[in-house]
Amino acid sequence: MEVTAVILAAGEGTRMRSATPKVLQPLAGRPMIQHCLDAVTALVTQPPVVVVGHGSEAVRQAVGASARFAIQEKQLGTAHAVQAAESLLRDKADLLLVINADLPLVLPETYKNLLEAQKNNAGALALLTADSTEARSFGRIVRDAAGRVIAIVEEAQATPQQLALTELNVGAYCFDAEWLWQALRRIQLSPKGEYYLTDIVAVAEADGKQVATVPLLEAEEAVGVNNRVHLAEAEAVVRRRINTYWMLEGVTLIHPETTYIEAQVKIGRDTVIYPNTTLQGETRIGEGCAIGPNAIVRDTTIGDRCVVLASVLEGAVLEDDVDIGPFGHLRQGAHLAQGVHMGNFGEVKRSYLGRGTKMGHFSYIGDAHIGENVNIGAGTITCNHDGVRKNRTEIGDNAFIGSDTMLVAPVKLGKGARTGAGAVVTKDVPANTLVVGVPAHPPNRSKEDEGD
Ligand code: UD1
Ligand code: MG
Repeated sequence: MEVTAVILAAGEGTRMRSATPKVLQPLAGRPMIQHCLDAVTALVTQPPVVVVGHGSEAVRQAVGASARFAIQEKQLGTAHAVQAAESLLRDKADLLLVINADLPLVLPETYKNLLEAQKNNAGALALLTADSTEARSFGRIVRDAAGRVIAIVEEAQATPQQLALTELNVGAYCFDAEWLWQALRRIQLSPKGEYYLTDIVAVAEADGKQVATVPLLEAEEAVGVNNRVHLAEAEAVVRRRINTYWMLEGVTLIHPETTYIEAQVKIGRDTVIYPNTTLQGETRIGEGCAIGPNAIVRDTTIGDRCVVLASVLEGAVLEDDVDIGPFGHLRQGAHLAQGVHMGNFGEVKRSYLGRGTKMGHFSYIGDAHIGENVNIGAGTITCNHDGVRKNRTEIGDNAFIGSDTMLVAPVKLGKGARTGAGAVVTKDVPANTLVVGVPAHPPNRSKEDEGD
Protein backbone atom coordinates (compact mmCIF):
# COMPACT_ATOMS: atom_id res chain seq x y z
CA MET A 1 0.00 0.00 0.00
CA GLU A 2 1.42 3.37 -1.04
CA VAL A 3 1.34 6.01 1.70
CA THR A 4 2.54 9.58 1.51
CA ALA A 5 1.99 12.89 3.26
CA VAL A 6 0.89 16.30 2.05
CA ILE A 7 2.16 19.09 4.28
CA LEU A 8 0.25 22.36 3.92
CA ALA A 9 2.78 25.17 4.11
CA ALA A 10 1.67 27.82 1.63
CA GLY A 11 0.02 30.26 4.05
CA GLU A 12 1.63 33.54 5.03
CA GLY A 13 0.93 33.15 8.72
CA THR A 14 -0.30 36.75 9.04
CA ARG A 15 -0.78 36.36 12.78
CA MET A 16 2.97 35.84 13.29
CA ARG A 17 3.57 39.41 12.01
CA SER A 18 6.89 38.37 10.53
CA ALA A 19 8.98 38.76 7.40
CA THR A 20 9.73 35.03 7.70
CA PRO A 21 7.14 32.52 6.43
CA LYS A 22 5.42 30.96 9.44
CA VAL A 23 6.54 27.41 8.75
CA LEU A 24 10.19 28.54 8.84
CA GLN A 25 9.96 30.04 12.31
CA PRO A 26 12.52 28.08 14.33
CA LEU A 27 11.72 25.71 17.18
CA ALA A 28 14.73 24.39 19.07
CA GLY A 29 16.86 25.73 16.24
CA ARG A 30 15.05 23.99 13.36
CA PRO A 31 12.29 25.33 11.11
CA MET A 32 8.86 24.38 12.39
CA ILE A 33 8.07 22.44 9.19
CA GLN A 34 11.10 20.20 9.74
CA HIS A 35 9.62 18.93 13.00
CA CYS A 36 6.46 18.10 11.10
CA LEU A 37 8.33 16.26 8.32
CA ASP A 38 10.42 14.29 10.83
CA ALA A 39 7.28 13.01 12.52
CA VAL A 40 6.03 11.30 9.33
CA THR A 41 9.24 10.05 7.68
CA ALA A 42 8.95 6.56 9.17
CA LEU A 43 5.34 6.18 7.96
CA VAL A 44 5.44 7.14 4.29
CA THR A 45 6.43 4.93 1.36
CA GLN A 46 7.11 7.96 -0.88
CA PRO A 47 8.67 11.34 0.00
CA PRO A 48 6.09 13.82 1.36
CA VAL A 49 4.75 16.63 -0.81
CA VAL A 50 5.05 20.10 0.71
CA VAL A 51 2.55 22.62 -0.65
CA VAL A 52 4.34 25.95 -0.90
CA GLY A 53 3.13 29.43 -1.85
CA HIS A 54 4.00 32.34 0.38
CA GLY A 55 7.80 32.55 0.57
CA SER A 56 8.00 29.39 -1.53
CA GLU A 57 11.69 29.71 -2.44
CA ALA A 58 12.76 30.07 1.18
CA VAL A 59 10.61 27.11 2.23
CA ARG A 60 11.95 24.93 -0.59
CA GLN A 61 15.51 25.77 0.34
CA ALA A 62 14.98 25.06 4.02
CA VAL A 63 13.30 21.70 3.38
CA GLY A 64 15.69 20.60 0.64
CA ALA A 65 15.71 17.16 -0.93
CA SER A 66 13.72 15.33 1.75
CA ALA A 67 10.40 16.31 0.13
CA ARG A 68 8.70 17.09 -3.16
CA PHE A 69 6.95 20.41 -3.73
CA ALA A 70 3.63 21.56 -5.16
CA ILE A 71 2.85 25.23 -5.70
CA GLN A 72 -0.35 26.90 -4.54
CA GLU A 73 -0.20 30.21 -6.42
CA LYS A 74 -2.97 31.93 -4.48
CA GLN A 75 -3.74 30.99 -0.92
CA LEU A 76 -7.41 30.20 -1.31
CA GLY A 77 -7.69 27.94 1.71
CA THR A 78 -6.62 24.55 3.03
CA ALA A 79 -8.78 22.48 0.64
CA HIS A 80 -7.43 24.45 -2.31
CA ALA A 81 -3.90 23.81 -0.99
CA VAL A 82 -4.43 20.02 -1.01
CA GLN A 83 -5.67 20.25 -4.61
CA ALA A 84 -2.32 21.75 -5.59
CA ALA A 85 -0.74 18.33 -4.83
CA GLU A 86 -3.22 16.36 -6.95
CA SER A 87 -1.25 16.27 -10.21
CA LEU A 88 1.79 14.86 -8.37
CA LEU A 89 -0.12 12.25 -6.41
CA ARG A 90 -3.19 11.18 -8.33
CA ASP A 91 -3.18 7.38 -8.85
CA LYS A 92 0.21 7.21 -7.11
CA ALA A 93 -0.80 6.89 -3.48
CA ASP A 94 -3.54 4.91 -1.70
CA LEU A 95 -3.51 6.68 1.64
CA LEU A 96 -2.66 10.32 2.23
CA LEU A 97 -1.72 11.96 5.49
CA VAL A 98 -2.67 15.63 5.13
CA ILE A 99 -1.09 17.78 7.80
CA ASN A 100 -1.05 21.51 8.58
CA ALA A 101 2.62 22.49 8.72
CA ASP A 102 2.02 24.53 11.86
CA LEU A 103 1.61 21.42 14.05
CA PRO A 104 5.18 20.76 15.14
CA LEU A 105 4.36 18.87 18.33
CA VAL A 106 2.34 15.91 17.06
CA LEU A 107 4.30 12.73 17.83
CA PRO A 108 5.25 10.06 15.26
CA GLU A 109 3.24 7.48 17.28
CA THR A 110 0.14 9.65 17.00
CA TYR A 111 0.47 9.82 13.20
CA LYS A 112 0.95 6.05 13.23
CA ASN A 113 -2.34 5.68 15.10
CA LEU A 114 -4.02 7.99 12.58
CA LEU A 115 -2.73 5.94 9.66
CA GLU A 116 -3.78 2.65 11.28
CA ALA A 117 -7.24 4.05 11.99
CA GLN A 118 -7.77 4.85 8.31
CA LYS A 119 -6.38 1.49 7.20
CA ASN A 120 -9.14 -0.09 9.31
CA ASN A 121 -11.80 2.41 8.28
CA ALA A 122 -14.09 1.56 5.39
CA GLY A 123 -15.01 5.25 5.26
CA ALA A 124 -13.38 8.25 3.67
CA LEU A 125 -11.07 9.63 6.31
CA ALA A 126 -9.74 9.63 9.84
CA LEU A 127 -8.76 12.76 11.72
CA LEU A 128 -6.90 13.73 14.89
CA THR A 129 -8.90 15.29 17.70
CA ALA A 130 -8.03 17.00 20.96
CA ASP A 131 -10.35 17.38 23.91
CA SER A 132 -9.87 20.71 25.61
CA THR A 133 -11.80 23.66 26.97
CA GLU A 134 -9.02 25.88 25.62
CA ALA A 135 -10.09 26.00 22.00
CA ARG A 136 -7.20 28.19 20.70
CA SER A 137 -9.40 28.98 17.69
CA PHE A 138 -9.41 25.34 16.56
CA GLY A 139 -12.35 24.06 14.53
CA ARG A 140 -15.03 22.23 16.54
CA ILE A 141 -16.04 18.63 15.80
CA VAL A 142 -19.82 18.30 15.46
CA ARG A 143 -21.45 14.90 16.06
CA ASP A 144 -25.04 13.76 15.61
CA ALA A 145 -27.18 12.15 18.31
CA ALA A 146 -25.72 8.74 17.43
CA GLY A 147 -22.20 10.11 17.98
CA ARG A 148 -21.20 10.11 14.30
CA VAL A 149 -18.98 12.97 13.12
CA ILE A 150 -21.02 15.07 10.70
CA ALA A 151 -19.12 18.34 10.37
CA ILE A 152 -16.25 20.55 11.47
CA VAL A 153 -17.19 24.17 12.08
CA GLU A 154 -14.57 26.89 12.08
CA GLU A 155 -14.64 29.24 15.04
CA ALA A 156 -15.64 32.24 12.91
CA GLN A 157 -18.77 30.44 11.69
CA ALA A 158 -19.70 28.56 14.87
CA THR A 159 -22.92 29.16 16.81
CA PRO A 160 -22.60 29.84 20.56
CA GLN A 161 -23.62 26.21 21.18
CA GLN A 162 -20.95 24.94 18.81
CA LEU A 163 -18.36 27.23 20.38
CA ALA A 164 -18.94 25.40 23.65
CA LEU A 165 -17.90 22.06 22.12
CA THR A 166 -14.62 20.77 23.55
CA GLU A 167 -13.77 18.24 20.85
CA LEU A 168 -11.33 20.05 18.56
CA ASN A 169 -9.91 19.53 15.09
CA VAL A 170 -6.13 19.26 15.42
CA GLY A 171 -5.52 19.76 11.68
CA ALA A 172 -4.14 16.35 10.60
CA TYR A 173 -6.09 13.86 8.52
CA CYS A 174 -5.65 10.55 6.78
CA PHE A 175 -7.64 10.12 3.54
CA ASP A 176 -8.58 7.40 1.14
CA ALA A 177 -6.78 9.15 -1.73
CA GLU A 178 -9.14 8.16 -4.52
CA TRP A 179 -12.15 9.50 -2.64
CA LEU A 180 -10.28 12.68 -1.63
CA TRP A 181 -9.55 14.04 -5.12
CA GLN A 182 -13.17 14.02 -6.28
CA ALA A 183 -14.49 15.18 -2.89
CA LEU A 184 -12.26 18.27 -2.92
CA ARG A 185 -14.09 19.52 -6.04
CA ARG A 186 -17.38 19.51 -4.14
CA ILE A 187 -16.23 21.89 -1.40
CA GLN A 188 -18.01 25.25 -1.55
CA LEU A 189 -16.45 28.65 -0.95
CA SER A 190 -16.76 29.56 2.75
CA PRO A 191 -18.21 32.91 3.90
CA LYS A 192 -14.57 33.97 4.46
CA GLY A 193 -13.80 33.45 0.75
CA GLU A 194 -11.65 30.32 1.24
CA TYR A 195 -12.06 26.65 0.45
CA TYR A 196 -11.87 24.94 3.85
CA LEU A 197 -10.49 21.41 4.02
CA THR A 198 -12.59 20.99 7.14
CA ASP A 199 -15.75 21.13 4.98
CA ILE A 200 -14.74 17.77 3.52
CA VAL A 201 -16.26 16.10 6.58
CA ALA A 202 -19.69 17.29 5.49
CA VAL A 203 -18.97 15.89 2.00
CA ALA A 204 -18.13 12.50 3.55
CA GLU A 205 -21.34 12.68 5.56
CA ALA A 206 -23.29 13.38 2.34
CA ASP A 207 -21.65 10.31 0.76
CA GLY A 208 -22.62 8.23 3.80
CA LYS A 209 -18.91 7.62 4.47
CA GLN A 210 -17.69 7.05 8.00
CA VAL A 211 -15.30 9.61 9.56
CA ALA A 212 -13.04 8.02 12.17
CA THR A 213 -11.46 10.07 14.95
CA VAL A 214 -8.14 9.45 16.69
CA PRO A 215 -7.25 11.17 19.98
CA LEU A 216 -3.82 12.66 20.63
CA LEU A 217 -1.51 10.66 22.88
CA GLU A 218 -0.55 13.75 24.87
CA ALA A 219 -2.58 16.92 25.36
CA GLU A 220 0.46 19.10 24.66
CA GLU A 221 0.61 17.90 21.06
CA ALA A 222 -2.36 20.17 20.31
CA VAL A 223 -0.51 23.41 19.70
CA GLY A 224 -1.23 24.88 16.28
CA VAL A 225 1.29 27.68 15.94
CA ASN A 226 -0.54 30.74 14.62
CA ASN A 227 1.13 33.52 16.61
CA ARG A 228 4.22 34.06 18.74
CA VAL A 229 2.45 33.14 21.95
CA HIS A 230 1.82 29.69 20.45
CA LEU A 231 5.42 29.64 19.20
CA ALA A 232 6.75 30.13 22.75
CA GLU A 233 4.38 27.41 24.03
CA ALA A 234 5.62 25.02 21.36
CA GLU A 235 9.24 25.91 22.11
CA ALA A 236 8.71 25.06 25.78
CA VAL A 237 7.28 21.64 24.89
CA VAL A 238 10.07 20.83 22.42
CA ARG A 239 12.69 21.96 24.93
CA ARG A 240 11.20 19.79 27.67
CA ARG A 241 11.15 16.77 25.35
CA ILE A 242 14.78 17.27 24.30
CA ASN A 243 15.93 17.72 27.90
CA THR A 244 14.05 14.61 29.03
CA TYR A 245 15.64 12.63 26.20
CA TRP A 246 19.18 13.62 27.21
CA MET A 247 18.58 12.97 30.90
CA LEU A 248 17.39 9.47 30.04
CA GLU A 249 20.53 9.04 27.88
CA GLY A 250 22.72 9.68 30.94
CA VAL A 251 23.33 13.43 30.86
CA THR A 252 22.83 15.39 34.11
CA LEU A 253 20.92 18.64 33.73
CA ILE A 254 21.20 20.51 37.02
CA HIS A 255 18.27 22.80 36.13
CA PRO A 256 16.39 21.67 33.02
CA GLU A 257 14.18 24.77 33.09
CA THR A 258 17.16 26.97 32.18
CA THR A 259 18.93 24.54 29.87
CA TYR A 260 18.37 25.21 26.17
CA ILE A 261 19.45 22.36 23.90
CA GLU A 262 18.66 22.54 20.20
CA ALA A 263 17.41 19.54 18.28
CA GLN A 264 20.66 18.69 16.44
CA VAL A 265 22.95 18.69 19.48
CA LYS A 266 24.52 15.43 20.72
CA ILE A 267 25.84 14.91 24.27
CA GLY A 268 27.85 12.06 25.82
CA ARG A 269 27.15 10.22 29.08
CA ASP A 270 28.00 11.60 32.48
CA THR A 271 28.35 15.09 31.12
CA VAL A 272 26.85 17.65 33.48
CA ILE A 273 25.09 20.70 32.06
CA TYR A 274 24.86 23.53 34.60
CA PRO A 275 22.09 26.16 34.60
CA ASN A 276 21.61 28.89 32.06
CA THR A 277 23.39 27.06 29.29
CA THR A 278 22.51 27.17 25.59
CA LEU A 279 23.73 24.45 23.21
CA GLN A 280 23.02 25.22 19.57
CA GLY A 281 23.39 23.99 16.01
CA GLU A 282 25.71 21.11 15.17
CA THR A 283 27.25 20.94 18.61
CA ARG A 284 28.78 17.64 19.79
CA ILE A 285 29.82 17.16 23.39
CA GLY A 286 31.73 14.14 24.64
CA GLU A 287 31.52 12.21 27.92
CA GLY A 288 32.23 13.40 31.42
CA CYS A 289 32.30 17.11 30.60
CA ALA A 290 31.09 20.00 32.77
CA ILE A 291 29.38 22.68 30.68
CA GLY A 292 28.19 25.95 32.25
CA PRO A 293 26.80 27.57 34.21
CA ASN A 294 26.32 30.40 31.74
CA ALA A 295 27.79 28.79 28.66
CA ILE A 296 26.75 29.38 25.04
CA VAL A 297 28.04 26.68 22.70
CA ARG A 298 27.22 26.82 18.99
CA ASP A 299 28.39 24.51 16.17
CA THR A 300 31.26 23.29 18.32
CA THR A 301 32.82 19.88 18.90
CA ILE A 302 33.93 19.14 22.44
CA GLY A 303 35.87 16.01 23.43
CA ASP A 304 35.69 14.05 26.70
CA ARG A 305 36.32 15.44 30.20
CA CYS A 306 36.28 19.10 29.13
CA VAL A 307 35.25 22.00 31.36
CA VAL A 308 33.52 25.03 29.85
CA LEU A 309 32.69 27.61 32.50
CA ALA A 310 30.74 30.78 31.66
CA SER A 311 32.14 31.03 28.13
CA VAL A 312 30.98 31.51 24.53
CA LEU A 313 32.12 28.91 21.95
CA GLU A 314 31.25 29.27 18.25
CA GLY A 315 32.47 27.02 15.47
CA ALA A 316 35.33 25.66 17.61
CA VAL A 317 36.94 22.29 18.28
CA LEU A 318 38.08 21.19 21.74
CA GLU A 319 39.91 17.90 22.04
CA ASP A 320 39.79 15.88 25.30
CA ASP A 321 40.66 17.37 28.71
CA VAL A 322 40.45 21.01 27.64
CA ASP A 323 39.29 23.61 30.12
CA ILE A 324 38.13 27.12 29.36
CA GLY A 325 36.75 30.00 31.34
CA PRO A 326 35.39 31.79 33.07
CA PHE A 327 34.74 34.36 30.34
CA GLY A 328 36.50 32.78 27.40
CA HIS A 329 35.48 33.30 23.78
CA LEU A 330 36.27 30.78 21.06
CA ARG A 331 35.39 31.92 17.59
CA GLN A 332 35.22 30.24 14.20
CA GLY A 333 38.16 27.94 13.56
CA ALA A 334 39.55 27.85 17.10
CA HIS A 335 41.06 24.41 17.71
CA LEU A 336 42.31 23.57 21.19
CA ALA A 337 44.28 20.31 21.30
CA GLN A 338 44.25 17.88 24.19
CA GLY A 339 44.81 19.32 27.62
CA VAL A 340 44.84 22.99 26.61
CA HIS A 341 44.09 25.32 29.51
CA MET A 342 42.49 28.64 28.66
CA GLY A 343 41.68 30.80 31.65
CA ASN A 344 39.72 34.01 32.00
CA PHE A 345 39.14 36.68 29.40
CA GLY A 346 40.81 34.91 26.49
CA GLU A 347 39.75 35.00 22.85
CA VAL A 348 40.89 32.60 20.14
CA LYS A 349 39.92 32.80 16.47
CA ARG A 350 41.06 30.69 13.48
CA SER A 351 43.97 29.30 15.47
CA TYR A 352 45.42 25.99 16.63
CA LEU A 353 46.75 25.63 20.17
CA GLY A 354 48.86 22.48 20.57
CA ARG A 355 48.64 19.88 23.36
CA GLY A 356 49.13 21.13 26.86
CA THR A 357 49.48 24.78 25.88
CA LYS A 358 48.41 27.22 28.57
CA MET A 359 46.87 30.63 28.08
CA GLY A 360 45.82 31.77 31.52
CA HIS A 361 44.68 35.36 31.35
CA PHE A 362 43.58 38.21 29.06
CA SER A 363 44.95 37.15 25.68
CA TYR A 364 43.89 37.36 22.04
CA ILE A 365 45.13 34.71 19.63
CA GLY A 366 43.96 35.09 16.02
CA ASP A 367 45.22 33.45 12.79
CA ALA A 368 47.93 31.59 14.68
CA HIS A 369 49.46 28.14 14.91
CA ILE A 370 50.83 27.45 18.33
CA GLY A 371 52.80 24.33 19.21
CA GLU A 372 52.70 22.04 22.26
CA ASN A 373 53.29 23.08 25.87
CA VAL A 374 53.59 26.75 25.03
CA ASN A 375 53.08 29.20 27.87
CA ILE A 376 51.17 32.24 26.72
CA GLY A 377 51.65 34.93 29.35
CA ALA A 378 48.90 37.21 30.57
CA GLY A 379 47.88 39.89 28.11
CA THR A 380 49.56 38.36 25.03
CA ILE A 381 48.14 39.66 21.76
CA THR A 382 48.59 38.48 18.20
CA CYS A 383 48.45 41.73 16.24
CA ASN A 384 47.05 39.89 13.22
CA HIS A 385 45.42 42.75 11.34
CA ASP A 386 47.61 45.36 9.64
CA GLY A 387 44.64 47.47 8.59
CA VAL A 388 44.27 45.70 5.26
CA ARG A 389 45.07 42.05 5.68
CA LYS A 390 45.02 39.33 8.33
CA ASN A 391 48.51 37.91 8.95
CA ARG A 392 49.67 34.71 10.61
CA THR A 393 51.64 34.07 13.75
CA GLU A 394 53.52 30.81 14.33
CA ILE A 395 54.95 29.72 17.66
CA GLY A 396 57.00 26.54 18.12
CA ASP A 397 56.69 23.90 20.86
CA ASN A 398 57.72 24.79 24.41
CA ALA A 399 57.98 28.51 23.67
CA PHE A 400 57.50 30.91 26.57
CA ILE A 401 55.66 34.14 25.77
CA GLY A 402 56.15 36.75 28.51
CA SER A 403 53.24 38.75 29.86
CA ASP A 404 51.93 41.55 27.67
CA THR A 405 53.85 40.46 24.55
CA MET A 406 52.62 41.91 21.25
CA LEU A 407 53.24 39.55 18.33
CA VAL A 408 53.11 41.74 15.24
CA ALA A 409 52.15 39.39 12.44
CA PRO A 410 53.32 37.97 10.13
CA VAL A 411 55.82 36.59 12.56
CA LYS A 412 57.37 33.22 13.54
CA LEU A 413 58.85 32.17 16.85
CA GLY A 414 60.92 28.99 16.83
CA LYS A 415 60.74 26.11 19.30
CA GLY A 416 61.70 27.08 22.81
CA ALA A 417 61.79 30.80 21.92
CA ARG A 418 61.15 33.21 24.79
CA THR A 419 59.93 36.80 25.01
CA GLY A 420 60.33 39.20 27.92
CA ALA A 421 57.36 40.92 29.51
CA GLY A 422 56.10 43.79 27.34
CA ALA A 423 58.06 42.71 24.24
CA VAL A 424 56.75 43.92 20.88
CA VAL A 425 57.89 41.21 18.47
CA THR A 426 58.17 42.55 14.92
CA LYS A 427 60.71 40.05 13.48
CA ASP A 428 61.00 36.28 13.50
CA VAL A 429 62.66 34.80 16.58
CA PRO A 430 64.92 31.76 16.11
CA ALA A 431 64.53 28.62 18.23
CA ASN A 432 65.67 28.74 21.85
CA THR A 433 66.30 32.48 21.67
CA LEU A 434 65.18 35.20 24.09
CA VAL A 435 63.98 38.58 22.85
CA VAL A 436 62.98 41.59 24.93
CA GLY A 437 61.89 45.20 24.57
CA VAL A 438 60.37 47.38 21.88
CA PRO A 439 60.90 46.39 19.15
CA ALA A 440 62.00 43.06 20.55
CA HIS A 441 65.70 42.19 20.25
CA PRO A 442 68.21 39.87 21.94
CA PRO A 443 68.96 41.22 25.47
CA ASN A 444 72.75 41.67 25.01
CA ARG A 445 72.22 44.13 22.12
CA SER A 446 70.20 46.39 24.37
CA LYS A 447 73.11 46.47 26.87
CA GLU A 448 75.53 47.65 24.11
CA ASP A 449 73.07 50.34 23.07
CA GLU A 450 73.01 51.62 26.62
CA GLY A 451 76.86 51.84 26.57
CA ASP A 452 77.51 49.26 29.37
C1 UD1 B 1 -6.92 25.10 10.60
C2 UD1 B 1 -8.27 24.35 10.48
C3 UD1 B 1 -8.90 24.25 11.87
C4 UD1 B 1 -7.94 23.54 12.79
C5 UD1 B 1 -6.60 24.25 12.82
C6 UD1 B 1 -5.68 23.43 13.65
C7 UD1 B 1 -9.11 24.85 8.26
C8 UD1 B 1 -10.07 25.64 7.46
N1 UD1 B 1 -9.12 25.07 9.56
O1 UD1 B 1 -7.18 26.44 11.03
O2 UD1 B 1 -10.12 23.53 11.81
O3 UD1 B 1 -8.50 23.47 14.09
O4 UD1 B 1 -6.08 24.42 11.51
O5 UD1 B 1 -4.35 23.70 13.44
O6 UD1 B 1 -8.39 24.04 7.71
N2 UD1 B 1 -2.40 26.81 4.23
C9 UD1 B 1 -2.05 26.67 2.91
N3 UD1 B 1 -2.78 27.33 1.96
C10 UD1 B 1 -3.85 28.10 2.29
C11 UD1 B 1 -4.19 28.24 3.64
C12 UD1 B 1 -3.44 27.58 4.59
O7 UD1 B 1 -1.09 25.97 2.58
O8 UD1 B 1 -4.46 28.64 1.34
C13 UD1 B 1 -1.58 26.12 5.24
C14 UD1 B 1 -0.93 27.06 6.22
O9 UD1 B 1 0.37 27.40 5.79
C15 UD1 B 1 -0.91 26.26 7.52
C16 UD1 B 1 -2.06 25.29 7.37
O10 UD1 B 1 -2.44 25.29 6.01
O11 UD1 B 1 0.29 25.54 7.69
C17 UD1 B 1 -3.26 25.69 8.24
O12 UD1 B 1 -3.62 27.02 7.96
P1 UD1 B 1 -3.97 28.03 9.13
O13 UD1 B 1 -4.24 29.35 8.52
O14 UD1 B 1 -2.97 27.97 10.20
O15 UD1 B 1 -5.36 27.41 9.64
P2 UD1 B 1 -6.02 27.57 11.06
O16 UD1 B 1 -6.70 28.87 11.14
O17 UD1 B 1 -5.02 27.26 12.11
MG1 MG C 1 -2.99 27.06 12.14
